[in-house]
Amino acid sequence: QAIYRKDYTPPSYWVNTVEMGFDLDPDLTRVATRMTLSRNIGSRGKSLVLYGESLELVQLRMNGKEVGKRGYTLGNGVLEIFNVPAEVTLDIETALRPNQNTSLMGLYTSNGNFFTQCEAEGFRKITFFPDRPDVMATYKVMLRADKDKYPVLLSNGNLIEEGDLGDGRHYAVWEDPFKKPSYLFALVAGQLVCQEETYKLQSGREVLLQVWVEEGNLDKTQHAMDSLKNSIRWDEERFGLELDLDRFMIVAVGDFNMGAMENKGLNIFNTKFVLANPRIATDADYAGIESVVGHEYFHNWTGNRVTCRDWFQLSLKEGLTVFRDQEFSADLIGTDSGRAVKRIEDVRVLRQAQFPEDAGPMAHPVRPDSYVEINNFYTVTIYEKGSEVVRMYQTLLGRDGFRKGMDLYFQRHDGQAVTCDDFRAAMADAGGRDLSQFELWYSQAGTPRVKVETRYDEVAQSYMITLTQSCPPTPGQPNKLPFHIPVAVGLLDSGGRDMPLVLDSVEGGDDRSVAPTTMVLELTEPSQTFHFRNVREEPVPSVLRNFSAPVILDIEYTDAQLAFLMANDSDAFNRWEAGQRLAMRRMLALTEAVKNGEALDRNADENALGAAFRATLTDNALDPAFCELALTLPSESVVAEQMDVVHPQAIHQVRRFLRRALASALRFQWEVAYQSNRTPGAYSPDPVSAGKRGLKNLALSYIVELDDGDAHKLAQSQYDNANNMTDRIAALSALVNSNAPGKDAALASFYEDFKQEALVVDKWFSLQAMARHTDVAAVRELMNHPAFSLRNPNRARSLIFSFCNGNPAQFHAPDGSGYEFWADQVIALNTINPQVAARLARSLDRWRKYAPELQDRMRAALQRVAATKSLSKDVHEVISKSLAH
Ligand code: ARG
Ligand code: ZN
Repeated sequence: QAIYRKDYTPPSYWVNTVEMGFDLDPDLTRVATRMTLSRNIGSRGKSLVLYGESLELVQLRMNGKEVGKRGYTLGNGVLEIFNVPAEVTLDIETALRPNQNTSLMGLYTSNGNFFTQCEAEGFRKITFFPDRPDVMATYKVMLRADKDKYPVLLSNGNLIEEGDLGDGRHYAVWEDPFKKPSYLFALVAGQLVCQEETYKLQSGREVLLQVWVEEGNLDKTQHAMDSLKNSIRWDEERFGLELDLDRFMIVAVGDFNMGAMENKGLNIFNTKFVLANPRIATDADYAGIESVVGHEYFHNWTGNRVTCRDWFQLSLKEGLTVFRDQEFSADLIGTDSGRAVKRIEDVRVLRQAQFPEDAGPMAHPVRPDSYVEINNFYTVTIYEKGSEVVRMYQTLLGRDGFRKGMDLYFQRHDGQAVTCDDFRAAMADAGGRDLSQFELWYSQAGTPRVKVETRYDEVAQSYMITLTQSCPPTPGQPNKLPFHIPVAVGLLDSGGRDMPLVLDSVEGGDDRSVAPTTMVLELTEPSQTFHFRNVREEPVPSVLRNFSAPVILDIEYTDAQLAFLMANDSDAFNRWEAGQRLAMRRMLALTEAVKNGEALDRNADENALGAAFRATLTDNALDPAFCELALTLPSESVVAEQMDVVHPQAIHQVRRFLRRALASALRFQWEVAYQSNRTPGAYSPDPVSAGKRGLKNLALSYIVELDDGDAHKLAQSQYDNANNMTDRIAALSALVNSNAPGKDAALASFYEDFKQEALVVDKWFSLQAMARHTDVAAVRELMNHPAFSLRNPNRARSLIFSFCNGNPAQFHAPDGSGYEFWADQVIALNTINPQVAARLARSLDRWRKYAPELQDRMRAALQRVAATKSLSKDVHEVISKSLAH
């Protein structure tokens, strides 16, 4: 039942206009749709295929005449109408049940209000339609509903009429002047209130901005509004792109499958990415809101004005838009070190989530060749690796070249549904470059490895860097062709300064004052050697600066070289990277020791690592936000990826051991860092304050590893005195992961204080799910808590996903109880919400990397899910791929 990219054919009919009338009722909503269609020139047949799911077909008319039973067939989600004229008007009436829609796709209710989610294929749960992104039409929508229960009626575009229907009901008519694919359709109806502002664009035009929330949440919308205004300004300044509507709305909903949705003019958001005030939101929440508000806003051009021809091209809009939101956040911070911190955070996500995906059973190219369920392909590969691919154009073409490519892309394709090839062609043509080999980034899955070998010739004063690439097999792709990889390098002299770089192949260029200190080497062959001349002493190479390509770099450094790079590299990303390598090396060695039954020496002082950490911690010139990242050990799951046979408990033990060793060796320095990074006064989420809090709270977490009375007191007093959620939750987490006497009381009072705030209750569940004492039985117990619900995706994620993905040592309990729990929840979620179930199904992706006994237990759990009756295709695709690879 897979769909293949190679099978793409244009639609047989285009839709020109769509008019819809909704009679909104939670139990039975009626939708009358009138659309005008024109047969595609060159299309052979006269039959029209429309998709529809979980719908009742009430009426079907063609050019005003009822279509008889012999005029169409209906089954398996397809309505096929025969003998359709070249120009035709269809009237379709459907009936649907929003209250029973727990999939949260199409039209559904959340806390009594109506919402829609149509991407990717949700519109077909509202009416029968050629629900594919290359069919673009203009929409006019009339909403009718009870006035008291649903005072607010919203849809895409501009409000052109509203009024009373006399019978206790009212109506509103919305018109979207821009052609759009059906996946961008949206409506919202219910009891909502908004914060609104008029905002002046650079052109002088004024637009209305609104953030809609449930009553009682208006004290949590300011940050989203500020983020929206910053997004609008940034897209004007950086890309010359203006908001094309007079009105732009954001609506928050508590039941939502993903983060947010870029519906034209009516973005619908998970509350998690809208609601914030210091009491309930952390610094990370504030940053997440800023980037998601930006992301959805930027889609207005990259996604909506120029959309995807088919869903295989999803990364065309998602990879590009993630790149844009990453650049937006980096530009807002503004400082060099702030940009580096943002870059490190983004790369961390890539390594933590995308590298494993690329090495596992669900590995797929940035532009997949096939899928069973498109919802399974809203992945870190499509989004985050897709963003890295876009970033590489900018690295290859330069900022200006990239901007020219973007301009050309819009010049050529505004109003169209296009492909990743079209984007690449715009970049190539604008930059005057051959980017044909670059296509392999879209078609080949797997994370490439680049091996680095160097040779210094003292007599010739030359330095050689040999880069050799390879890419492991992935499902369906046993052999790979060489990629076009931009590798940014620098060379450090013994004083830690950047050397001027002169390639041997370049004529002249001996003027050292103009020689660059970072150079992008383009690796296109399996192996290439680059010669530098005038190299006065043997340098320490700094390779893949700023993570210039999404690859794994194999490079041999001594501990001393890593410490040197950590202290001196002008590239902040590689300074961080050197520290991570040093830590990873130590963690892997210790894990090996534990696996061999050796005891970890509690008093071992961590020499190389300890010295490097000490240097970072005591360097007052360093940005606290950078320090926090540099002093955080690689996560357990990142370490696991480095091992051939994963031993989760050993990794956990080692990471704690190292953290304790670093805590005790540097206790005084942690205390100093704690005290000197306090942020007294009113809370502000700005990056400088957030960076300080981050370092302070990291220091707290190290100190609490020592689990003594002073440490407990420090955490307890921070908990008691916090004036913001960042500090409060950090203190609570420190307490819960220690043996502090006050931990249970703190957990209980936290719940009492915040039980009215759903997003904070999520944090409360999540923190416990990931705590080191929390085992499978404790999680099952938490599921019985009155506040727990499997139906709400945020709540399910906060407890179940947090445990399965965020507590590896407990989840992988040797008796397999974690896997049984996982299977139970996948099966339960499968009937409620297949999309969420399929996400959870992926927690066992890497099952083949574990010891045989664990593998057996995981296989059994996978097979139990596979054997479940009426498995959704979402879950089935994930499980069957896991079992097959
Ligand atoms: N386009 C949305 C975004 O990236 C994601 C929506 C995906 N939703 C889904 N049900 N697959 O912001
Ligand atoms: Zn997106």
